[in-house]
Amino acid sequence: MSRIVLAYSGGLDTSVLLKKLILEGNEVVAMTVDLGESDAIAGTGARAALEAVRAKALALGASDAVLIDARERFIAEYAFAALRANALYQDVYPLSAALSRPLIAGLLVKTAHEFGATVVAHGCTGKGNDQVRIELGVRALDPSLVCRAPLRESPLSRPDAIAFAREHGVPISHTAEKPYSIDANLWGRSIEAGVLEDPWNAPPEDVYAWTASPAAAPPPEEIVVSFEAGEPSVNASTGAAMVAQLNALAGKHGIGRIDLMEDRVVGLKSREVYECPAATVLIGAHRALERLVLTRDELRFKALADRRFAELIYDGLWMQPLRMALEAFNAAFAPRLTGDVRLRLHCGNATVTGLRSPNGLYREQLATYGMDDAFDHQAAGGFIALQALPLEAYTASQRAPVGV
Ligand code: ARG
Repeated sequence: MSRIVLAYSGGLDTSVLLKKLILEGNEVVAMTVDLGESDAIAGTGARAALEAVRAKALALGASDAVLIDARERFIAEYAFAALRANALYQDVYPLSAALSRPLIAGLLVKTAHEFGATVVAHGCTGKGNDQVRIELGVRALDPSLVCRAPLRESPLSRPDAIAFAREHGVPISHTAEKPYSIDANLWGRSIEAGVLEDPWNAPPEDVYAWTASPAAAPPPEEIVVSFEAGEPSVNASTGAAMVAQLNALAGKHGIGRIDLMEDRVVGLKSREVYECPAATVLIGAHRALERLVLTRDELRFKALADRRFAELIYDGLWMQPLRMALEAFNAAFAPRLTGDVRLRLHCGNATVTGLRSPNGLYREQLATYGMDDAFDHQAAGGFIALQALPLEAYTASQRAPVGV
C-alpha cells in the first residue's frame, strides 16, 4: 500500500487508472492541472467543468483531489519561452503538449511532497513521448520518487477500459467512444489515432474542434500583435487571456491546422494532427519582428539555436542545463524586440502585412529604388572583387577548365 499522486484528467483512461490503483489498496490523491484546455470552447464554463473532474475523482474513491490553475504559469514560463525560440518541432509543430509535461512533472513532485506521497503516477502509454517527458522531469527534481505508468505496465485497449469502467461504476462520457486520442492546452490541441493512423487518409473535419474549415472561413480580418521587450499583446490583452482570445479569433479563420508525420522520442514515426491557432499567429509575428530588428548574423545563428531548443523540448529535456542556457541566450535579444506586427487573417493563413519598431534595422534610404537613394553603388564593385578572390584562385588551380 502506497500513497500515490495521480495526474488526473478526468477522462476514461485516468479514471480507470484511479480505480485500479485504489483496488490495489493504495491511497490515491488525484491531481488535475488547468492548462486552459477547455477555455477555447467552454469559455467561462471551463472552471465548472474542471470542478466536476475533481468531484468525479472523489466520487471514485480518491482520498483527496486537487485542482491547480497553472494557466498563467504555463503561458509565461513555458509557451512564451518557446515563442522566444520560435519553437517548431520538425518545422511545424509548436510543441503544445510537449511544453505542458515538465510543468505537470513539477506539480506532481510538489503535490507528492505536500501529501507525503512516495509514488507519482500518470496515464501515458509505453510508446508515447509524454511518459518520457513526465518521468525525466520527476527524476530530475526528486529521484527518490517512484514513477508508475500503469498503462505501460499492462496496456489497456479501449474496449477493455470501457468494460472495466462499466463493471466498477466509472462514469463513461459520450466522448469516450470517440476513436481519437486528444490532448489540449492553451498552446494547442493534438489529435491522433483512429482513421488518422493511415497517413493516406485526409483528416476528417470531425477531428477539429478549435478551427473552422479554411474553405468556409469568414472575410479577412486584420490584427496587430504588439511586442514589448519580447512580450506579446493583442488589443492590450496579455498572457493566458490573450492566448485564449487569439485561439478563438484565429481559429474562426481556420488558422493553425497542422498534419505531421512525426518522429517520436522512442524511435517510431507517428501521424499527428494539431490545431494551434494562437501559437501559429504569435510565432509568425515574432519571427517577422526578429527579421526587422536582429542583424543578419544574429538571425542565422539564432535559427540553429532555435531548432535545438525545439528538439530539447520535444525530447523531454526541459531540465537540461542547455535549455536554460538557450533561454538566457534568447533573453539577450528580448530588450530590442519591441514593435508592432500587423497580420491579415484569412482562409487558414495569418499573413504579415506590416511591421514597425523603434529598433528596426531597415533603412529606406538604403533600400529604395527611388530618388533619395543613399546606397554607395560603387562600393559594391570592390566588395565583389574581394569576395571573388578565393573563387578565382580555385578556378586557376584546376588543370581542367571548371565546367560552366
Ligand atoms: N505527438 C505530440 C507530442 O508528442 C502530442 C502528444 C499527445 N497527443 C495526443 N493526441 N494524445 O508532443
